[in-house]
Amino acid sequence: MPNAPTIKLDATSNPMTRTLAPDEAGLAEAARLLAVSELVAFPTETVYGLGGDARSDRAVARIYEAKGRPSFNPLIVHLPDLAAVERIALVGPKARALAAAFWPGPLTLVLPLRAGAGVSPLVTAGLETVAVRIPAHPLAQRLLMAFGGPLAAPSANPSGRVSPTRAGHVLEGLTGRIAAVLDGGPCAVGLESTILLADPEPVLLRPGGVPVEAVEALLGETVATGGDAGKPTSPGQLASHYAPEAAVRLEATEAREGELLVGFGAVKGRLTLSANGDLVEAAARLFDTLREADRLAGPDGRIAFAPVPETGLGRAINDRLRRAAAPRG
Ligand code: TXA
Ligand code: MG
Repeated sequence: MPNAPTIKLDATSNPMTRTLAPDEAGLAEAARLLAVSELVAFPTETVYGLGGDARSDRAVARIYEAKGRPSFNPLIVHLPDLAAVERIALVGPKARALAAAFWPGPLTLVLPLRAGAGVSPLVTAGLETVAVRIPAHPLAQRLLMAFGGPLAAPSANPSGRVSPTRAGHVLEGLTGRIAAVLDGGPCAVGLESTILLADPEPVLLRPGGVPVEAVEALLGETVATGGDAGKPTSPGQLASHYAPEAAVRLEATEAREGELLVGFGAVKGRLTLSANGDLVEAAARLFDTLREADRLAGPDGRIAFAPVPETGLGRAINDRLRRAAAPRG
């Protein structure tokens, strides 16, 4: 067939980002794409990650390009187990205790990078530390095993947008920019991981899926808070990071003229994060609800959020809501 069209597979020209099923064939295809430095979004228990081979400069450069992310933002490396973590990073005593308690799960530890780790310098943005996480989602685990290497994966959304908690969200933001998305349904936690420096003294860089109270209880000490909004110790801390299109007002107990109210517990709204005031449910629904509220509010719309208690997962929820409400440049 001399005139048969040739199909060129290139991450910079993926008019048809493919959706892969969560089965053996889907996993094998995802692993094959990753092995040739293509990008595959995959589910974790927190949010969908935009995965690329952490050892490949080309794959990591493609992640930055696909997200439109400023290149000073380092990425989280996802690994299947502690042995794999120790091949790229130095695990101190507090980090080890946290790993035993919370991995696999929604915790990211920022650790000293091991010499000769083989991780692309683009992953760490030239820092001497590396952020690592062992995800609990069974599909993420199976993908890491099938691929057999470290996966750099930021949240699978264009930079500055709300993180995706469903395969459909990934496609809304990144169709045509990545090779495929592995569809594992909705994410259970719904908020990104907690990011911590563990040793010598613990510092919280981003509140997330593991409540800081649980970290403090385990370590038997208070955890300092680093990375104020706008001071990017952890660049995901940029104030406008979770911006919807609509203007956002917080601590609202009723809707003002023209506002769409998102309720919580006793405060009823057109939408609600959790009618029962359940923080786990509210976290799982947060990003989906932000998208839905943004869509319902329309182009010049305004959204008001009911108060959420500042305890447990409520801290991470309020952190994301404050960023959504922050003034934008
Ligand atoms: O739940 C999650 O953490 C998700 C899933 C996919 O694992 N990932 C995620 O990645 O939220 P991303 O890239 O959106 O956020 C990673 C954060 C960024 O704010 C980045 O600056 C910070 O981690 N980070 C990465 N390496 C760091 C380092 N060496 N020191 C300080 N912060 C670091
Ligand atoms: Mg993100």
